[in-house]
Amino acid sequence: MTASNKLIITRPDDWHLHVRDHKFLSSVLPHTADRFTRAIMMPNLVEPVTTVKLASEYRDRIIDALPAIHKLTFDPLMTLYLTNRTNASEIKKARESGFVHAVKWYPAGATTNSSKGVSDIVACYDVLEAMAEEGIPLLVHGEVTDPNVDIFDRERVFIEQFLEGIIKNFPELKVVFEHITTADAVKLVEKSGPNVGATITAHHMLLNRNALFQGGIRPHHYCLPVLKRETHRKALIKAATSGNKKFFLGTDSAPHTKHTKENACGCAGIYTSHGGIELYAEIFDKAEALDKLEKFASFNGPDFYGLPRNREKITLTRKKVPIPEVFPFGDEECVPFRAGGELLWSIG
Ligand code: NCD
Ligand code: ZN
Repeated sequence: MTASNKLIITRPDDWHLHVRDHKFLSSVLPHTADRFTRAIMMPNLVEPVTTVKLASEYRDRIIDALPAIHKLTFDPLMTLYLTNRTNASEIKKARESGFVHAVKWYPAGATTNSSKGVSDIVACYDVLEAMAEEGIPLLVHGEVTDPNVDIFDRERVFIEQFLEGIIKNFPELKVVFEHITTADAVKLVEKSGPNVGATITAHHMLLNRNALFQGGIRPHHYCLPVLKRETHRKALIKAATSGNKKFFLGTDSAPHTKHTKENACGCAGIYTSHGGIELYAEIFDKAEALDKLEKFASFNGPDFYGLPRNREKITLTRKKVPIPEVFPFGDEECVPFRAGGELLWSIG
């Protein structure tokens, strides 16, 4: 399978993605649909996707915005946004819908559009119980929101204060620790049972926190959870390339307009969909683990979610492709990861 300059793998899926809404959808969806068959659509819209009805409407808008060639083949996997007031009855509806595949726990105030998220997870215990029963995974943004906790420690403290307890109290609940950024998170996932998995972004494996301050402040390297120190970056690469079935691909590609990032108070989020699989090929290649890419990108995710693996294949070629300075984003612009630079691998 692995020729040195060419790699053919089962078509991958993206298990953590933001595509926003309305006029923005058609700008970003082609990047994802050109590479992936399915993507877990994050529900943190300005008006969050809190019910199956809202998820159905959002799904329709996504499908409408897809290019014709992808309309019948790309499958948006929808999620619900958990709040203190989510009704446990919504979980049964989610399971019956066939298109809602998970529920996302944003601690209130942790990240973009999370103000309506959960401020009291205990108030959600009946919902978590229902999710365990229905086999619906809980997707976790794992950072505490206490401003007194150092921003680089918020993931580790979340593990201690919340996640270990949830995993212990709900052993039947499937939990995906999203966009993990620390060796502590890797360790938690490794030591937990088979119901606990994690997504890993490309940018957290390509950059450490120095990238935020490289010759000046770099708003396009700012995301949440924030980039961590080199030891953590190495731990993530080791986990992703280990072949362990608990770790899978989730880009957390999170587009924002240029002016809201290049701002006195810039938004969190890095746009990587233009290199959604290519950046991972680069990482696995450098780690001499290209033979593990297919498991991470195409097998572990569907296996964890209990969905079939894709049948089609894609070809990745070691060939440099220039990355533009900006992509159109609605009637504005979005600055992509490595703007003006190159992807080292290409598809097709
Ligand atoms: C995401 C976004 O912009 O929606 N931002 C980010 O920095 N990753 C939200 C999130 O996943 O935290
Ligand atoms: Zn995200």
